[in-house]
Parts: sequence; structure tokens; C-alpha cells
Amino acid sequence: MWAELAPIGRDATGGGYRRFAWTAADLACRAWFRAQAERRGLVYELDRNGNQWAWFAGPDAAPERDGGESTAVPARDVPRGNGGGEGGDGAPRHGTGPARGTAPEEDDGERREGRRSGGGSAAGADQPRSGAGVGPPPLGRDRSGTGGPGGGPPGSGASAGASPGAFDGGRGRAAVAPRSWSPAMARDAVVTGSHLDSVPDGGAFDGPLGVASAFAAFDRLIAGDAVFRRPFAVVNFADEEGARFGVACVGSRLAAGVLTADQAHALRDGDGVSLPDAMAAAGHDPAALGADPELLGRIGCFVELHIEQGRALADRGTPVGVASAIWPHGRWRFDFRGTADHAGTTRLEDRRDPMLTYATTVLAARKKARLAGALATFGKVTVEPNATNAIASLVRGWLDARAPAEDVLDRVVAETAHAARERAGRDGTAVEVVRESYTPAVAFAGPLRDRIARCLGDAPVLPTGAGHDAGVLSAVLPTAMLFVRNPTGVSHSPAEFAEPSDRLAGVDALTAVLAGLLADGHPRTDEEPRPNKEPTA
Ligand code: GLV
Ligand code: MN
Ligand code: MN
Repeated sequence: MWAELAPIGRDATGGGYRRFAWTAADLACRAWFRAQAERRGLVYELDRNGNQWAWFAGPDAAPERDGGESTAVPARDVPRGNGGGEGGDGAPRHGTGPARGTAPEEDDGERREGRRSGGGSAAGADQPRSGAGVGPPPLGRDRSGTGGPGGGPPGSGASAGASPGAFDGGRGRAAVAPRSWSPAMARDAVVTGSHLDSVPDGGAFDGPLGVASAFAAFDRLIAGDAVFRRPFAVVNFADEEGARFGVACVGSRLAAGVLTADQAHALRDGDGVSLPDAMAAAGHDPAALGADPELLGRIGCFVELHIEQGRALADRGTPVGVASAIWPHGRWRFDFRGTADHAGTTRLEDRRDPMLTYATTVLAARKKARLAGALATFGKVTVEPNATNAIASLVRGWLDARAPAEDVLDRVVAETAHAARERAGRDGTAVEVVRESYTPAVAFAGPLRDRIARCLGDAPVLPTGAGHDAGVLSAVLPTAMLFVRNPTGVSHSPAEFAEPSDRLAGVDALTAVLAGLLADGHPRTDEEPRPNKEPTA
């Protein structure tokens, strides 16, 4: 599976990935996700915010290891909302009461698809299927999880050896889905996954490792003796990096209601294309963007596996760790305005050069962060008119700042803005500072985190400065994260790496964690508080 994903959006020269939200590369990644769902006979769903889901039917639809009668693998497109009954296999159907909600794909069309995978043809990567009742292609099972050609993540082996629409559970037994089940019926689901988009010239693992490992873990669960007492899903969150529209974790922020539909509609890329227009051009209806409590209400917990973006595990000599917390962080846009003029004829004392103010601000941010034990980065800048022989009229720089505590973060940003204004006064320029996004400190749910660490033999529990969908969703759900060792710690770069053996260890760990959660029928409300403040756009 990795071999199919690896070339998508990779720059031939530098080897970095350019998978920006709703571009052709992103759509190809999204088609890959859907194909993985179909290959496994999972129920594919596209939510109102462009997040992709691959559902596995829940409790009483779980594979019967000994009897072999009750199973959970949907084989084909099915009608919705018929409330159950008996199937041809004589097994009890899930959801014998009235189905909660409506049949989403019938009401919402493209934006909430939810059809059984494997049926019909698609006009585009995310278009609804016609539901022609055709069985899915052979299962992409990779029990070894050893990774495919090129040393990709675990689970990247070629699909082979399974019957269409069937998981044999390692015991040669076919599985047929209850035809009445739909994702809208899921409750207390165990969800795993990550994202497939990238930063500019990003690495192969940030995001895709979590999605590929999720499918690989599912294959292991099915091939092993896992008990599915809760529904299960793999998710690909849309636009996690925010590389194109400036706000990170757009899909999860929208779903959680911390990015409003109005705010999302106002987002523009560097060419002035709005997020809704980009979505529409990609075949996704943006009309229903916004909070999705119904969907999040189906989820009991979300566990995201991610490559570590630092060296803590490498320093400890441990392949897998568990996240304790995410530093508060945010993005601020600094607009430095001056006067364009001739580079060859304007005396230095006559200039109003915003580049000077910008350069001084970069140094100030670095110093303030160092003194506070925080991080501050100007990694993106645009210049007008952007001519070698003209003094700039506008320099726009984006500050990414992160700190161990919110008061420290706020202070670093305030001091940096103050330094910018003070310098602008001397340069005859003007500065405007706009906060584009802010994510408060995230403390991952304690009981879930501790349980996972115990399950992994007391794996190290580590904080991180990187933002994640699991962090955003921690405001509304119990969430947790697993980190896979990155030998150099380099990330957001083509040099990002994880050894194949560590990717395998990640799948092993994720499988063990998911198996424990799936075997546990406790509703989330008994399990976890939701302590985190909501991020803001
Ligand atoms: C996500 O990768 C982030 O920028 O923290
Ligand atoms: Mn990232
Ligand atoms: Mn990521």
C-alpha cells in the first residue's frame, strides 16, 4: 500500500512532498485512501468537512472467530435505515431498532457519502459511488506489515490472497456484512488515522505513517483474534498542515466547531482562491462546512500514530512512545509596510524599508523565545513588489510560536510584536500583527494515555511541540497519540525518516492498543474527562 502512495506529490528534484489541500496531489492521496478502504471492504464515508472515513461495523457485527456466522465486513452497497432484521446468514443484525438519523448518502449526496465501498464508478476521487452492488476488490491484507518496496511504512505490502469482500480472519472463513449497518449507527467507535497532506517539501511520514499504519493495524486485527465490541474506523483528516490556507487542522477544527464555517469560507490561498472554491473545484460541496457533532458523537476515542518530530525516542533508545501533551502554539501574520523606491538612487537615510524592520523582528523573536524557553520561527515570507532593484513596499512574514505554557507563549509573541513596532518607529515603517490561529495547551486524556502506556510495557510518555488533529479533538473527545522513533528527529523535510523495523514496532503497538480498546465496551463518558480548552482559528 505504501508503494502506491509514495510517489504522489513528490518533487522529482528534492524528494520532498507537496500535497497541499485540495490540489491534484491531495486528491490522488484521497483516492488512495478510498482505494484502501475499498480493498478491505470498509464502509467509505466522506464527511461534510472533507474528512475521509473507512468504517468497520460494530459490536454484534464483529467477526465470530469460532462460530463464523456473525461478521462485519460489508461486501457491497446496501440500502440504509431499514433498522435491521435477519440476514441471509441467520446472524442477528446490528441496530435492530430504528436507525438513528437518516441515510446520509441519500440525503447529503457527495458531502456525506457513507456508501459501502466497492460499488459503482466515481467521477472524481471523492465523488459518490453509484452503489452498483459489486463486491470490493481483493483485500489488501498485509499480515506481516513489513512494508513494501522502497522501505515504506508497515502494511505497505501488496494486496493478495483474500477473496473479494471477505476477511478470512486467518481461519479461512468468509465474512459478510450486515446489510443494515451504516456509519451513522456507530457509537463509542475506536478511531485511528492521521492525515495525508504535507507541508511544502515535507517528508514522507508526517501523516501518512499514521494512516498506513492504521490500515495495517486493522489488517492485523482482522487476521488475528481481535474482538470488535465497538465499531472501528480509519480516518484521513483534511488539510492538517494548513500549508495552503494558513490554518492547520482545518478538517478536525471544522468538525469540532472551533473553526466556524464563516471563518473557513474566508480562508484564501496565496493566489486568492478561497477554501470553498478550492473544495468545489476538487468536487467537494463546501455548502455544509461546519461543526459535526453527529459524527463526533459516534466516536469513543481517537488514537493517532505519528512519526516523532524530535529526538526524544532516539535519545531513549525506544522505538515507540506515547504523547502526554502538546505545547500551546499559534500562527501570527506580521505585515510590515514601507515605501517602494529605487534601489540604486534612494539614499539610505531616505528609505522606509520594511525589510529592515522584518529582519530585526526575526532576530527579536529568536531572542525572546530563547530567553523564555520557547520556540519562534519565521518560516514563510512574501515580499512586494519582490524586485531585486526595488525597496520593498510590503513584507509579510508569518510567525509560528510555541511554548510550554500559554502565558509564556503569549509573552513571547507580545514581546516580539513590541520589538517590531519599536523598530518600525525607527525605520519609518508600519507593522500590523494578526493572529491567524491559536491552539491552547493540550493534555491528552490521562486514563487513556496511561492505559496505552501500560499496554505498551510502560512506553515513554512525552510532550511535543507539534500540532495534531488528536490535539484539536482532545477538546471534545478522549484522544491519544503514539510516536514512532525518528532517528534524526528531522521533520517537515524530505530527510524525515523512520527505520522499517520501527514502523513495524509502531504497527505492533497500534494493533495492541486498538485490540484492547475494541475489546472494551465502556462508553467514553465513563472513561474520560475532556479537560482541554478549545483551539481557536
Ligand atoms: C504540524 O505539523 C505542526 O505544524 O505542528
Ligand atoms: Mn506536520
Ligand atoms: Mn502530522
